[in-house]
Amino acid sequence: MKAILLEQAGSSENLKIKEVAKPIIKNNEVLVAVKAISINPVDYKIRLAEEGLTMMYGDKRPVVLGWDIAGEVVEIGNEVTNFKIGDKVFGMVNFPGNGNAYAEFLASPEDHLAKMPENISFETAAATTLAALTALQVLETRVKENDRVLIHAGSGGVGHFAIQIAKSKGAYVITTSSAKNKDFVISLGADEHIDYRTEAFEEVLSDIDFVLDGMGGEILFNSVKVLKEGGEVLSLPTPQNVIKEAQKIADSKKAKVSALLVHSSSKDMNTLKEMLATGILKPHVSQTFNFEDMAKAHQQLESGRTVGKVVVKL
Ligand SMILES: NC(=O)c1ccc[n+]([C@@H]2O[C@H](COP(=O)([O-])OP(=O)(O)OC[C@H]3O[C@@H](n4cnc5c(N)ncnc54)[C@H](OP(=O)(O)O)[C@@H]3O)[C@@H](O)[C@H]2O)c1
Repeated sequence: MKAILLEQAGSSENLKIKEVAKPIIKNNEVLVAVKAISINPVDYKIRLAEEGLTMMYGDKRPVVLGWDIAGEVVEIGNEVTNFKIGDKVFGMVNFPGNGNAYAEFLASPEDHLAKMPENISFETAAATTLAALTALQVLETRVKENDRVLIHAGSGGVGHFAIQIAKSKGAYVITTSSAKNKDFVISLGADEHIDYRTEAFEEVLSDIDFVLDGMGGEILFNSVKVLKEGGEVLSLPTPQNVIKEAQKIADSKKAKVSALLVHSSSKDMNTLKEMLATGILKPHVSQTFNFEDMAKAHQQLESGRTVGKVVVKL
């Protein structure tokens, strides 16, 4: 089968299509013929740095990057109970860990997948994986009806799902992006938009119950300022030592600063399946690339300007 191999950390040019052996499944796994892959900032961050590669893949080289797939089950292990050959499935496979998604076939534990809802494309299903799971795993226990919620980077992969999930819980949603993406985030249900290029959110907002910070740095520290007493900021890209630093500032208003690493879960994938089926979630795929153009897809993500999701099709 064809797979995209990364021999060593570096630029997107290091991603090379090669012929490799098809994976052999374990008893609890299914073999998926991959039809679409979604990519995320973690893909290029891991590709760029040897430490990141080692964290996810140990000493193994070359590696096959990628975690988000949609496809069709073509083989099942002896212990698999939830899937049969021919099922259309989607999921984030083995995250954090050894993903192997940039390939024509992928061996996945059955408890990382869900069946795709009827009437959605492989591209849409693949888009509704890591970024959507992150938004779900962050918001499901932290946001309730009438909360004032600030979502930074509402036009990005995580943010565009987060707006929709927070609205479905009855929250009042304020979001940041540049002006060109205002109409997009409002169309997703956001109640207020702040153009971060012309307006300092920390000067116009207060009394916020929950902030989802997909940016880090100064934005994290300024987010603490807009919290109400007892509020929380969850920062996705921030290391623990910086979280602790921000927590010291938050202590004065009895607020919380936290982090989360998304994890594979068929239970959560099934929740996303329901949200897709009932129309709560409408994923936005802004760009689709061919498998051969994975390097271009990475370059798009690395620009930091992606709207919704980027998907690669096979
Ligand atoms: N901890 C975890 O488990 C986890 C999971 C998922 C993601 N993450 C991290 O979370 C971050 C966001 O991921 P993502 O997939 O949503 O990224 P993304 O799709 O690449 O985000 C792109 C969006 O960010 C917006 N943006 C850029 N600079 C901004 C700023 N200063 N203020 C507000 N918006 C800004 C852009 O809008 P404009 O073009 O309008 O500026 C663009 O639409 C990444 O660092 C990722 O690695 C962590």
